[in-house]
Amino acid sequence: MSPPPQQCRWQKFNTTVELEQAATQAILQAALQDISQRGTFHIVLAGGTTPRRIYESLRKADADWAAWHVYFGDERCLPADHVDRNSWMAAQAWLNHVAIPLTHIYPIPAENGPQAAASAYAQTLAGIELFDFVLLGLGEDGHTASLFPGHELGSTADSPAVIAVENAPKYPPQRVSLSAHRLSAARKVMFMVSGAMKQQAVRDWRCGVAIPAAAISPTSGVDVYLEAALLV
Ligand code: 6PG
Repeated sequence: MSPPPQQCRWQKFNTTVELEQAATQAILQAALQDISQRGTFHIVLAGGTTPRRIYESLRKADADWAAWHVYFGDERCLPADHVDRNSWMAAQAWLNHVAIPLTHIYPIPAENGPQAAASAYAQTLAGIELFDFVLLGLGEDGHTASLFPGHELGSTADSPAVIAVENAPKYPPQRVSLSAHRLSAARKVMFMVSGAMKQQAVRDWRCGVAIPAAAISPTSGVDVYLEAALLV
């Protein structure tokens, strides 16, 4: 069965700083609401460079960190302490500096290789039906997480929750990614898009080209936080 069509809300900002501030506030607001309703906040983090300053802002926030549970949308198959790991970036920018219990932070064991890590992480996610918040980036080729054009996106209901990625066009070639279907099982999904090199991917997306980012289709739709300059 094909996934529901994606509903996009394009939230444009004049500057990158405004985008980052708004994204930080949206995350904190969602956490406050979800923790008050259910006592926990399950968030999936994006990798790459765009979220770094948002993570650095979160580090300064006053939040009920003990109620947060942190997952990763994808990971690069590198040693756990490698500076190019998405988990390393998030730890340096944010997670090492706040009181989220270590038992509530779930890095993808990508150092064990794509297949083993994908199987292990699928077990980690088995107990979580819906994420509260999923953060995603957008690559120049329209990829998101480690779901790349021409590769398996896992967008149908029978798709595995976690995909082993080989021959990724973005270094490193071996990665692990949550599938499009699993990333869509979320109350809120936010894309953060910054940088002139993303302009063509945004154009393709808005013209209905089936880029991987367009395969993320939660029932509540997705919010795309982007610089206004990318919409011209
Ligand atoms: C990764 C990320 C990837 C990233 C995009 C955007 O492991 O590289 O998960 O999906 O979000 O490539 O990267 P930038 O934010 O660096 O532009």
